Amino acid sequence: MPDLESFIRGLPKAELHLHIEGSLEPELMFELARRNGIELPFADVEAVRAAYAFSNLQDFLDIYYQGAQVLVTERDFHDLAMAYFRRVAADGAVHAEIFFDPQTHTERGVAFATVADGLLAGMAEAKATLGVTSKLILCFLRHLSEDDAQETLRQAEPYLDRIAGVGLDSSELGHPPAKFAKVFAAARAQGLKLVAHAGEEGPPEYVHEALDILAVDRIDHGNRALEDAGLVKRLVAQGMTLTVCPLSNLKLCVVDELPDHPLKRMLRLGLKATINSDDPAYFGGYLAENWISTTHALGLTRDELVTLARNSFTGSFLTPGEIAVHLTEIDNYVADVEAGRPR
Ligand code: ADE
Ligand code: ZN
Repeated sequence: MPDLESFIRGLPKAELHLHIEGSLEPELMFELARRNGIELPFADVEAVRAAYAFSNLQDFLDIYYQGAQVLVTERDFHDLAMAYFRRVAADGAVHAEIFFDPQTHTERGVAFATVADGLLAGMAEAKATLGVTSKLILCFLRHLSEDDAQETLRQAEPYLDRIAGVGLDSSELGHPPAKFAKVFAAARAQGLKLVAHAGEEGPPEYVHEALDILAVDRIDHGNRALEDAGLVKRLVAQGMTLTVCPLSNLKLCVVDELPDHPLKRMLRLGLKATINSDDPAYFGGYLAENWISTTHALGLTRDELVTLARNSFTGSFLTPGEIAVHLTEIDNYVADVEAGRPR
């Protein structure tokens, strides 16, 4: 039997909650700043990393939006995406559904097409060279207005055949899902899938709103749903996927320590939780590191790890046929491990 770390790395899995701008490593940040003639307010890579001490979501967002300013050309977005796919492929991921924040770029004068073309080119290269499939999810920044979000959806129109869905991110408190009811209805009418960050810092009511008013297909984070027993029952009954991000929760002080993380409790309650990295360049770990740290902190069992891997596919926006193939790959992997067959 391999140790749990090797078992995790080899387990076929998907990542469903990843902000591509949050995978910008300080080394690439410096390279892009040099390439684009942009001055960074940091002396070197170590100074950037030293600034990554956050006490809440807003603390992080301020530095995350600043970092994203080095992304200017289509090639920058392509390079950013490929750097992420190389890391996640090494972690045993075979599929990723990645968020991007177009407003962070369009408000600086970078065209929507520049961002989308670069990311889509990176996604195509990842499939061809690494065998990792992916989908793109456009996130609206919730600290901006619904009119701004509507304008962003309008800019996305030529790309809607290559965008799987829309999401809602940025500062949660004070910006409830209900603020985006109309733009989410418009996205749904265009055939897009819908997700929203809810219950990361915001109250359980925001999770209710994401379900009732936005009619989301997935909840991103969802930690604070646990404060409302009726809501938990509802999420379990609906089989709603929660894209949980343990190291993010630790770094943004959503939990004090990893052993306090509610992931195991979520699984025991029957919630369809998944493990994801959120913004790995800022939170100290890519996908496998999230799985491994959480497994050690919470004592996750092999059966729980297999459940998490299965949830990452059944909660994805892949077709039922594609999902079935991945679930069979998990079964084959587990059978090989149990039989001691080398892979
Ligand atoms: N944007 C990038 N990461 C985020 C997070 N964890 N919550 C909200 N918005 C984000
Ligand atoms: Zn997120």
